Formats: sequence, structure tokens, C-alpha cells
Amino acid sequence: MVKICCIGAGYVGGPTMAVIALKCPSVQVAVVDIAQKRIEAWNSDKLPIYEPGLDDVVKQCRGKNLFFSTEVEKHVDEADIVFVSVNTPTKTTGLGAGKAADLTYWESAARMIADVSKSSKIVVEKSTVPVKTAEAIEKILTHNSKGIKFQILSNPEFLAEGTAIQDLFNPDRVLIGGRETPEGQKAIKALKDVYAQWVPEDRILTTNLWSAELSKLAANAFLAQRISSVNAMSALCEATGANVIEVSYAVGKDTRIGPKFLNASVGFGGSCFQKDILNLVYICECNGLPEVAEYWKQVIKINDYQKNRFVNRVVASMFNTVAKKKIAILGFAFKKDTGDTRETPAIDVCKGLLGDKAELSIYDPQVTEDQIHKDLALSKFDWDHPLHLQPMSASSITEKQVTVVGDAYEAAKDAHGLCIMTEWDEFKTLDYKKIFDNMQKPAFIFDGRNVVNVDQLREIGFIVFSIGKPLDAWLKDMPAVA
Ligand code: NAD
Ligand code: UDX
Repeated sequence: MVKICCIGAGYVGGPTMAVIALKCPSVQVAVVDIAQKRIEAWNSDKLPIYEPGLDDVVKQCRGKNLFFSTEVEKHVDEADIVFVSVNTPTKTTGLGAGKAADLTYWESAARMIADVSKSSKIVVEKSTVPVKTAEAIEKILTHNSKGIKFQILSNPEFLAEGTAIQDLFNPDRVLIGGRETPEGQKAIKALKDVYAQWVPEDRILTTNLWSAELSKLAANAFLAQRISSVNAMSALCEATGANVIEVSYAVGKDTRIGPKFLNASVGFGGSCFQKDILNLVYICECNGLPEVAEYWKQVIKINDYQKNRFVNRVVASMFNTVAKKKIAILGFAFKKDTGDTRETPAIDVCKGLLGDKAELSIYDPQVTEDQIHKDLALSKFDWDHPLHLQPMSASSITEKQVTVVGDAYEAAKDAHGLCIMTEWDEFKTLDYKKIFDNMQKPAFIFDGRNVVNVDQLREIGFIVFSIGKPLDAWLKDMPAVA
């Protein structure tokens, strides 16, 4: 029986390994983590992450061929294949701060693998890492290995949160990079055999290590670039009376472009896009390619612009001040069907409104009150000027300024304005007449996800702003939004 161990029981390690266990009953999978609470949750009825379909997969395999444990060293030692799926956030201090990937967790995992292993292993990079990381990992493993042989593979993960199980069941592709030596090719085959139990062979791509590592950064950069492109267009649509929904539909009909990932929004969020592009920017700079670095930076600059633009639109529309005005925030997660708030645009928008002294009433179906308070208390790291950390004075946010409530109607009661930050399905079918009746007048809706029916809401009496759509007469009269 092949034994797999995955270090890191997070958004990637947990679902990925659960699906491998489900699809490969003859493989034994142990998912290990140093975070005891996380492992306890994986072993309970309330899993540590919300992901549609995940409960069902875990229930089918847990205790059979899927185990969650804090006994990291024991499971690593016993495994034939060790996946490393630890977090690789952006460095916040030191060399490369604000851009480079922080490989502290990765390095400590690699050193531990070398320390505890008593048999040869395949070590798989599942985390997203800078190109050439495998070379550094190889050095750490071979210098500390006491003669044990390790083969390093790069097998980046392409799942998106909210659709992780679907993506894992039916991936567009699985990418495996390895050394072009007989041992490297043998390791690639061993991992390919695992995926081949449910993924068609023509979707399992094999490459050299550096291509696999770089493809992951490139894929995220391309995806984020599409969103920044359509968001840039959304600003022009608002200025000209074009409708971004119609524009992106027309553009996406070109089979060379395709329809996906062209939804204008308040900005992209999530733990990957910004981090991976910054990482790409840093790698380009380190390789003497400042023009290429500058090109990719623009994707993030437009994303920041879009979030600022949204805040400015809200404030400008409401007579240039939101001080002491209640504003309902519907949705806090970075996208629907997840409780994840990492880099969610809601944080920047809320902080912008709080900076103008608004009082926020926040509702999200999956994000806890505690998480929202934590997120709003974090200092924002200024990636473009890492030496000048912007101290968003978290301590100056009073309790009255942020309340977290249990439903959308409560959030909107007596509010002057309502902002939709996440495209949760339930926001499409709210009783907006009831909401309107209970709001202050004039009542404003700012839809950052294009989920509401603008005409219907205008008929009810709302003043509506929806990203990239023709402006309400009211908004046209308000000062230009920079
Ligand atoms: P995460 O923070 O949810 O999980 C990482 C886990 O690793 C944590 O639970 C942490 O406690 C654990 N960990 C860290 N160091 C450890 C160590 N030395 N030993 C044992 N456990 C350790 O992160 P994530 O979202 O799962 O992302 C993991 C990697 O996958 C990142 O590189 C990310 O860029 C990449 N990725 C993420 C996604 C996504 O949708 N979240 C998609 C594709 C790729
Ligand atoms: C992303 C990549 O899609 C995935 O392949 C990679 O493995 C991890 O990073 P994720 O961040 O989980 O996945 O979600 P994704 O669906 O890509 O959405 C990212 C952000 O972009 C969200 O805030 C989403 O709302 C936003 N988005 C997405 C848009 O604003 N418009 C779109 O058209 C699509």
C-alpha cells in the first residue's frame, strides 16, 4: 500500500488529500499539521474550512484510508510520498519584504523531513513557491539526509476555493514537474499513477521542475490580469454609459478570449492572486527584468485602484461624507461559498469607510464575528512602499463603528447605504422592498459584485451603483471619482 503524508492541513492540503483518499482506496493518506486546533477540527463534525461537498468526501474516508494527525514526524517517516502544502505568504520584513514569498514554513518542513526520514522518499511541492525553490529544497534535503535519497517533484495546485471539490474531481489539468534523470522520471510516474486513478491521462502534464513551478505563478497572473482588465474597463464603462456586462459578454464571445473570469467586481481577493503576482514581480526584478516586473505590478495597482474607486464612489454619492452614517456590508468573504477572508476586498472597503468615520453593520453567512474583528484590526501592508507601513490605526476603530449581525435585514435596518461585497446567492433574492422600507432615505445600494437587478431596485426607490453599469442620474451629478 502506497503511503502518502501531507504536511499542512489547510485549504489545499485538506481537500486535496481527502479527494486522493476517496479516489485511491489503496493509498493510505495522513494529513499532518502543527496546528492542533485545526487537526482537532478535521477530526470533528465541524471541519475547519467551509467548502461545498467537502464534508461528504471526508466522511467517506476518514478513519479508513484518511487520517488527520499532529504526529508530523511519525507520518513523514512512514510515507513513500510526502506532499508539502504549508503556507507561503508574502514576506513582511527583511529582504524582499512586500513581494518575495516567505519560505520559512517550507524550509522548516524540509529540514524536518531530512531529520526524521529513515527511507527514500518523493517530496512533492504542493505549495505555490518561487521558480527554482526545488533546487534549494534539494540542497537542504541532500545536505542533511544521512545518505537517504529524495526526489523532488513540483505538483502545483490549481483548485479555487468554493469549488475545490469539483475542481479536484475534474481538474482541467494536473501538472507534475521533475528532474530529467531516470530517477526523476520514475518519481514522476509514481505520482502520475496516483492521479491516473481518476484523472484522464491526457490531462496529466509532465514537465521539468522549473516549468511546473513557474506555470503556477503564470496561471494565477493571467487569471488576475483578466479581472484587472475587465475592472479597468468597468471604470471606462461608468464614464461613458457603456455596460460592462454587455462589453465583457461581447469580448468573451471571441473564442480566442473566452467567457470565463471576465466578471467586473470591487476587486479580486483571496490568498493567492496578490501574493503570487508580487512573488512573480520579485523574481523578475531579481532576474534583471524590471520592465516585465512593472507590467505585472499593474495588475495589482488596478486592483487597488478598483477598491479605492468603490470607496470613493460610496462617499461621494452620499454627499461626500459617511461620518456617523450606518452602512450595511453584505458579504465579507473574498468570494461566495467560502468563509475565507484572506485579502478580501471587503477589508479594504470597510477600512476606507471607517476612515471616513462610517458605522458599519456587517453580515456574512460564513465568516465569524471574531474573524471580521481580527481582519479589521490588522495593519495593512503597503506592498508598493514596504518601508513605509501604513499604520491603519486599528485601535482607533471603536466598538460602535463595527457591529457584526446575523442576517442581511438586520444589517440594513436604519442604514443609509448598503454595500454588496461578496456574491452570495442569497443576496440575489433578498426582499429589497422590505430592506428599502427600513432604511434611511435616500437609500443607496452599492453593488460591488453585480448581483442585484438594478432596474427593479431603482423602481423600488433606491439609488443604485453597480460596478461598470450606466450610472444613476443621481450619481452622475456627484463629483468625479478618482
Ligand atoms: P493554509 O494557511 O490554509 O494552510 C497551511 C497549513 O500549513 C497551516 O494549517 C499551518 O499550520 C501548516 N504548517 C505550516 N508550517 C508547518 C510545518 N512546519 N509543519 C506542519 N504544518 C505546518 O494555506 P493554504 O491556503 O492551504 O495554502 C497552502 C499553499 O498552497 C500555499 O503555498 C498557497 O499559495 C497554495 N495554494 C493555495 C490555494 C488556495 O485556494 N488556498 C490554491 C492553490 C495553491
Ligand atoms: C485562485 C485560482 O483561481 C486558483 O486556480 C488557484 O489555485 C488559487 O487562486 P481562488 O483565489 O480560490 O483561486 O478563487 P478565484 O475563483 O480565482 O477568485 C479569486 C478572486 O477573484 C475572488 O475575489 C473573486 O471574487 C474574484 N473574481 C473572480 C472576480 O472578481 N471576477 C471574476 O471574473 C473571477
